[in-house]
Amino acid sequence: MQIKTAEFVVSNQDVSKCPINQLSEYAFIGRSNVGKSSLINMLTNQKSLAKTSGRPGKTQLINHFLINKEWFLVDLPGYGYARVSKSAKKTFQKFITAYFRERKQLVSAFVLVDIRHEPQAVDLAFMQWLGEHGIPFSIIFTKADKLRPKAIEAHIESYKKKLLEFWEEMPNYFITSSTNYSGKDDLLNYIDGVNNEIKNETSQLPFQ
Ligand code: GTP
Ligand code: MG
Repeated sequence: MQIKTAEFVVSNQDVSKCPINQLSEYAFIGRSNVGKSSLINMLTNQKSLAKTSGRPGKTQLINHFLINKEWFLVDLPGYGYARVSKSAKKTFQKFITAYFRERKQLVSAFVLVDIRHEPQAVDLAFMQWLGEHGIPFSIIFTKADKLRPKAIEAHIESYKKKLLEFWEEMPNYFITSSTNYSGKDDLLNYIDGVNNEIKNETSQLPFQ
């Protein structure tokens, strides 16, 4: 799939104020600074559609980006950022949780993890929480440009091993770099496939 148009639509802290329509959406979530906003820019071929920063805690709202006028990419604040105040953390946690629990248009979450790091408790706990709430997700390993291919392989293997302590199978995963564009086609083709599946299911309903 090619992304032809990508437009910022709305930002807010309130899931009830997210766009009202039935378009499918895919949300990027993960620790602060993992590269959620950068990946949105990479996928959409835009430098600063989503705001990025070297300092964690940049994205503070639920941001909807309309893609090809057909579906949404959603950029969310990071979790696990130690340097924001306790009350800010609580606010983030509340609206992020509400977003995942209530947003019916959410087709799948993408949990981003930095490929250089060992599995982090906060990520594993978040995946567990998604599982308990029946929210489908894939993992996106980010910043693959920082490791050599052999090291990438080793990190993926050890991540898999850890996840298989909790999950019966390894969730779907992608290896990406926003710097060298790796993983872009795989990820966009995957989303395209899911969008098409949804279209086919809808067209087969007895009542339209
Ligand atoms: P918050 O909004 O704070 O939660 O962060 P985020 O997850 O949106 O991260 P963001 O995209 O702002 O990127 C954080 C930093 O990582 C920036 O300095 C980016 O340039 C850098 N970065 C993001 N993706 C990559 C990547 O694939 N490779 C490299 N080398 N750096 C990256
Ligand atoms: Mg961000």
